[in-house]
Amino acid sequence: MRPEPNAFEVHICCLVQISAAASRSGACAPGYPTLADSRYNHQVVTDLDHQPLIDFSRLSAAFYADPYPVYARLRREAPVYRCPDGSVLLTRYADCFQVYRSPSLYSSDKQRQFKPLFGDSPLFEHHTTSLVFNDPPLHTQVRRAIGNALSPRAIAPMQAPLVELVDCLLDNVQDKEHFDGIADFAGAIPVEVIGNLLQIPVPERAPLRRWSLAILGALEVGLTPEQFAEGNSAVTEFLDYLESFVGHRRKHLKNADDDMLARLLRWESDGFRLTGATLYHQCIFILNAGHETTTNLIGNAILALLEHEDQLLALRKNPKLVETAVEEVLRFESPNQLGNRLTTEAVHIGGMQIEAGTVLTTCIGAANRDPEHFSHPYTFDIARTPNEHLAFGGGIHTCAGLTVARLEGRIAIERLFARFPQLHVDGEPVRNQRARFRGLAHLPLRTQ
Ligand code: HEM
Repeated sequence: MRPEPNAFEVHICCLVQISAAASRSGACAPGYPTLADSRYNHQVVTDLDHQPLIDFSRLSAAFYADPYPVYARLRREAPVYRCPDGSVLLTRYADCFQVYRSPSLYSSDKQRQFKPLFGDSPLFEHHTTSLVFNDPPLHTQVRRAIGNALSPRAIAPMQAPLVELVDCLLDNVQDKEHFDGIADFAGAIPVEVIGNLLQIPVPERAPLRRWSLAILGALEVGLTPEQFAEGNSAVTEFLDYLESFVGHRRKHLKNADDDMLARLLRWESDGFRLTGATLYHQCIFILNAGHETTTNLIGNAILALLEHEDQLLALRKNPKLVETAVEEVLRFESPNQLGNRLTTEAVHIGGMQIEAGTVLTTCIGAANRDPEHFSHPYTFDIARTPNEHLAFGGGIHTCAGLTVARLEGRIAIERLFARFPQLHVDGEPVRNQRARFRGLAHLPLRTQ
């Protein structure tokens, strides 16, 4: 078992200063400490060089390689942490859980945050229309439609084509000694799966990956003018494509059609229907939500298993463990490490009072290794049960595609390791330099 990293493993040492941002705390109910109270100023700390414990706009290569020592220290010493930009980072499981379970206090609506960033642009329209960045009542109506379209029953028929796709990718690398676990395998699965869900003809799928990466790339910290322009073009091109594709599909919809798009087109509840741009933006969002996250799940799973020989051996001996193995990868190397909310009123969380209008970041990666919630959280244990991780978030916004993600993860892992009994890492895996989406850019593998 790997112990909780101690202070020496974290690059930052003594705590001395109160962050300037801490003094911005607003009005509070009497009796609750605020982030500005000097008694509690250990909650907002910097190191001896007056560096903040974490600044998401200036992350190091060491952090991208392994963020967990920094998260462990935050969770231990400043679990409700005021970041240099004034937002508050939560690293304890219980605090993140509380946020997910109280949507009226913690809003997902991003209009206020995205306006200064995107102005009146296609990117603004897209991101503020997406299910995930909305609150009830719109969220409730759209969620019902998408929940129905992605229900386990609706997803069941996709299993056979998924197995076929995975086997075809494995056939392509069968005779190679080396291949890239991301480009040749993990990265090639999710776009095809969503293409199948939307029934987009195979020859028309080429731009999907580029559009998806450009639209999500615009959410990165430090947006450049090029990223902004590429993101806007991607939204516009994608909307144009969907307008004609969905229009054609609607016209030729048959009673027997029961795929995801057919379900979305037919959906009607309490007079609500998904139509026009609102429908197209949800289709774009579903592709984006299920693309990079699932690539990361599969890539992270391959690497974690190859790095933990005993666990891989246990899986090879008992392939039924694949279900709990996928859950453990989701916990141990969560593909989506950060979430955001905005406080709608003054709230108390983790024993602290936080003012209304504060941006909160739930650190899923830290919560999923919280020793208060998981025994031996730094041990990768593919048989772990129970495993109530927060990799899919929680509450009303819990990932609507989790059945799809789990199925992709299980089938990809099962079939890859069954096909290659000698698979191993062959060179240095390359991590994406991203804090929100934890995954690999390249994973060199050797089959013999
Ligand atoms: C391993 C893969 C995946 C991970 C780790 C993941 C993670 C998440 C998380 C953490 C959220 C909640 C965001 C929040 O509360 O702010 C979310 C929401 C969502 N995800 Fe996933 N996701 C994955 C795959 C997918 C797939 C494959 C799809 C679609 C086919 C999908 C569709 C959605 C949708 C529609 C939402 C919005 C739910 C709502 O706001 O009600 N996700 N996902």
